[in-house]
Amino acid sequence: MAKGRYSRLGGRRSSAFTLILIVLLMLSIVFLMLLAFGILSLPIGSDDSPPANDLSAYVRKNVNSDGGLGKRGEQWTEVLSWEPRAFLYHNFLSKEECEYLINLAKPHMAKSTVVDSKTGRSKDSRVRTSSGMFLRRGQDKIITDIEKRIADFTFIRVEHGEGLQVLHYEVGQKYEPHYDYFLDEFNTKNGGQRIATVLMYLSDVEEGGETVFPAAKGNISSVPWWNELSECAKKGLSVKAKMGDALLFWSLRPDATLDPSSLHGGCPVIKGSKWSSTKWMHVEEYKV
Ligand SMILES: *[C@@H]1O[C@H](CO)[C@@H](O)[C@H](O)[C@H]1NC(C)=O
Repeated sequence: MAKGRYSRLGGRRSSAFTLILIVLLMLSIVFLMLLAFGILSLPIGSDDSPPANDLSAYVRKNVNSDGGLGKRGEQWTEVLSWEPRAFLYHNFLSKEECEYLINLAKPHMAKSTVVDSKTGRSKDSRVRTSSGMFLRRGQDKIITDIEKRIADFTFIRVEHGEGLQVLHYEVGQKYEPHYDYFLDEFNTKNGGQRIATVLMYLSDVEEGGETVFPAAKGNISSVPWWNELSECAKKGLSVKAKMGDALLFWSLRPDATLDPSSLHGGCPVIKGSKWSSTKWMHVEEYKV
C-alpha cells in the first residue's frame, strides 16, 4: 500500500519534471529562433564596438585611426568618369595639413620643369609655368600619415610613390594638357611606368585653376559645377580646386595599357592663387 502510494507520488514528480524540461526546451527554441531572425542579440564585447560582421565598424576605425593633423570635414568619394578612370575624394586633407604642406614648401619653390620626351631629362617649358618643389617620401610624421592615406585610397603601396610635389600657380599660370605616363626609356627605369596620380588641392581658387581632362568620354556638362567653370575648363571634364579635396586618376587601364583619355591640364588661374600637391605612383617600387 505504502509502496503503491510512494510510487504514485514518484510518478507525479517525474511527470512534473518532464513538463519543466519540455517548457525549458521550448523556451530555448524560441530564444534561438529570435536570435536567428536577429530580433534579439547577445551583447558581445564593449558597448562602443559594433558587431564583427558590420562593415561600418571597419570604416569607422579607419576614419578614427588615420592620425593626421587637424580635423577633417565629412569625407566621401565620387566617381567622376570611367574614361579616364577619375575619382574625387572630398576632405582628404584637413585645412591644417594643407597649410602645413604649403608652409613647408614655400621657402624652396623653384620654377617647374617638364620632362623632355627625347632625353628624358627635365627642361624649362612654356607649357608649364608654375613653381614647385619635391618633399622627401616619409620626410616627417605628417607627410607619412598623408602618404599612408594615399596608399589606403589607391590600394597602391607607399613604396611605389614618388615624393610629394607641392605646386604653386599664380594668376595666368597653367599647365597645358599632358600625360603623366612616360614615352621614354629613361624615366621608366625607376619603378616602371606611372600608373596613377593623386592630385590634392591645398587651396581654393576664386576663379580658374581647374583640372581639365579634354579627352574624357561622356557628358562633360553634366557636372553640378558646370556654370562656375572658366572657358578653359569647359573644354573637357573639369574639377574645381577645393581645399582638402583629392583627385585620383589612372594613367594605365586595368590591362596595363596606356590610357590616352587620361590627358589632363591645369587651367590658368584667373583670380586668386592655387596651391596643389601631387603624388605620382608607379607600377613597381620607386627607389628614393
Ligand atoms: C548633358 O548634361 C546636361 C546636364 O545634365 C543636359 O542638360 C544635357 O542634355 C546632356 N547632354 C547630352 C548630350 O546628353
